[in-house]
Amino acid sequence: MRRSSGKSRRRAAYPIALLAAALACPAAAEAGAPLTYLTGQGAKNYPVVYLLWGLLAVSVLVVVIVSVLVLIGLFRHRGLPRDPRTVPLGRTSGGLKWVYIGTAISAATLFISALGTFYVLGAIAGPPSRQELTINVAGHQWWWEVTYDNPDDSRVFTTANEIHIPTGQPIRFKLTSDDVIHSFWVPQLSGKTDTIPGQENETWFEADKPGTYRGQCTEYCGLQHAHMGLLVIAQPPQAFKSWWDDQLKAPPAPSSAEAGAGQLQFMLHCAVCHSIRGTDAHGRFGPDLSHLMTRQTLAAATLDNTPGGLSGWIADPQHVKPGNLMPNLALSGPQLADIRQYLETLH
Ligand code: CUA
Repeated sequence: MRRSSGKSRRRAAYPIALLAAALACPAAAEAGAPLTYLTGQGAKNYPVVYLLWGLLAVSVLVVVIVSVLVLIGLFRHRGLPRDPRTVPLGRTSGGLKWVYIGTAISAATLFISALGTFYVLGAIAGPPSRQELTINVAGHQWWWEVTYDNPDDSRVFTTANEIHIPTGQPIRFKLTSDDVIHSFWVPQLSGKTDTIPGQENETWFEADKPGTYRGQCTEYCGLQHAHMGLLVIAQPPQAFKSWWDDQLKAPPAPSSAEAGAGQLQFMLHCAVCHSIRGTDAHGRFGPDLSHLMTRQTLAAATLDNTPGGLSGWIADPQHVKPGNLMPNLALSGPQLADIRQYLETLH
């Protein structure tokens, strides 16, 4: 009995502790809930988070005031004899003026809240300065294709699911989709923008400090909608530039016999769908794998990029993400091991 009451007390205390953590230490709250929108980062999201907490405060205040007034109304006339033929709220009993006053206060509160919302959304509609960098993002069932734009064609490259950006500058995102409607959402940095087949939508955001920000498809797009995650990795501009330079290079040639054999197996089984720079693999159906080992995750932020994760994914992708377009290749044990060793050379 004692134990169960302790448990329910702990359960009741949990949301309060979470709220206290969110207020006291935004970083701790982010670490525990990477998709939280109660905190935000960067020029676009700071005003939105202020708006969110402001509207929340107004709403809580309204609930408290209304509750107190209801309680006062309930207890003030308790015990007084009442004529059942009269209505307490009526023209003659004088209560109607409170309806007028209440409606006026509610209308004014809603109007001011709406003005604040329009003002903030208008202010963040465009970036504060010119965007130097444009990143094209295309939604696929169920992963993100990411192409870095540049006036110099030799600096254009494609990657997947993990978007590196430089800190301290607004980035333009041009969004489209290859199949159905998806929605691009990195809650710490920006609100949602749909990716729509045959249409180009534009959004922007900025990260003012380095970090890894989790994103997620937020428009239901089929069986693996929940496994359509992404990461935004914000780096200081110099580190970002050297990352970009590395992405333009071909990965080193495999040096071990197993990795060499794995490369042949890869060309046989995987190259129709995947590209690897500097090789004969030019497939465009699946993610570009040129620098797979520089990514933290696999399968659109579904698995950690570890040897075990990689083996599990190649061996049975339909077990990890049922319905996804990567088939089970029915590889033998040695073939699987060789391909994994080859992929592990893709730095
Ligand atoms: Cu893509 Cu949901």
